[in-house]
Amino acid sequence: MLADKRILLIIGGGIAAYKALELIRLLRAAGAGVVPVLTAGGAQFVTPLSVAALAGHPVHQDLFDLTTEAEMGHIQLSRAADLVVVAPCTADLMAKMAGGHADDLASTLLMATDKRVLIAPAMNVRMWQHPATRRNLAMLQADGVQVVGPARGDMACGEHGPGRLSEPATILAAIEAALGGGPLRGRHVLVTSGPTHEPIDPVRYIANRSSGAQGTALAAALRDLGARVTFVTGPATVAPPQGVAVVAVETARQMLAAVEAALPADAAVCAAAVADWRVAHEASQKMKKGAGGLPVLEFAENPDILATLSRHAQRPPLVVGFAAETENVVDHATQKRLRKGCDWIVANDVSPATGIMGGAENAVHLITADGAEAWPRLPKSEVAARLAGRIADHLNGKPA
Ligand code: C5P
Repeated sequence: MLADKRILLIIGGGIAAYKALELIRLLRAAGAGVVPVLTAGGAQFVTPLSVAALAGHPVHQDLFDLTTEAEMGHIQLSRAADLVVVAPCTADLMAKMAGGHADDLASTLLMATDKRVLIAPAMNVRMWQHPATRRNLAMLQADGVQVVGPARGDMACGEHGPGRLSEPATILAAIEAALGGGPLRGRHVLVTSGPTHEPIDPVRYIANRSSGAQGTALAAALRDLGARVTFVTGPATVAPPQGVAVVAVETARQMLAAVEAALPADAAVCAAAVADWRVAHEASQKMKKGAGGLPVLEFAENPDILATLSRHAQRPPLVVGFAAETENVVDHATQKRLRKGCDWIVANDVSPATGIMGGAENAVHLITADGAEAWPRLPKSEVAARLAGRIADHLNGKPA
């Protein structure tokens, strides 16, 4: 997949640097050449010897070695690559990149390169959420830097949340996609996500607690495999991912119209928590408290987007739904697959004891025509990466 590609891999200083060793191994197995650069911080976590041994290439560490010796200057080093990858990318490296610093080899290479740059951030959750990192991230994305992760989950520092380095396989997939070789290249995938808001009157609505986290993670994972993603989202609390076509809607009916307008697609994943009912007669003016007593709301059934798509004249070749259940998960989801007419159902147990609803992790069963597969409890980003991989395999005719 990456034959003849050359990756300049900058390893920053964080505990996740050990995962860079696995990334090097995966890159080489995929046929890429890896030219490693270790920052001073990175060298505190992994040794130059292990990096060089796995890369099969000497490690560059010192700016002045490169500028004074005749063999290869930093300009040449930064340009001989097809892609520059920073993994792990620390908060400090992000700040240096956003600020245009060039005071060591890594930052100088990043300033001098004329190639695309992909960063895989990894840091403590507070550092990731800090306004300075938010600003730096926005600047880097505006500069065209591609970003993979971070994932959510337990961190080496004992905290929990976004900030974990993405798994090496996920970074590899992002590298392949960045170089135009992702397994979903040329494919169009439609994702629905978030809740819907169903108006009662101009100021009130009926909603649900969906954050949009799983759908957002999935859209990002599909994008990372090279897909063109149309992301139809209700009013979610999680921001939509970069690099996908976002169609923002409010109601179930708007969501269905947006989904139909986005066809044809090679696959559709319905991760939205669509309201089953809407208020039959939306009031045109704000409803008033008054002598008329308590209002009575009459409901009408919303369209079922997943079922409509599954029986559509332009049905995507692969239609995937979600099922949130609180009991008999596999049985209920198996019946739901048949009832809706979709190909796969990703089922999870959302009973309160699992902590899954609104949490960072998900434990799912994948229900297909062949039966049910139990997946281990994983961060939602990893569930997304795994599902995206399965979608790619399916569309490319690879057996499960
Ligand atoms: O029937 P239930 O809501 O449990 O089914 C969940 C699945 O159906 C999810 O994939 C959800 O996105 C989809 N769905 C839909 N339109 C609806 C209701 C659910 O697409 N009106």
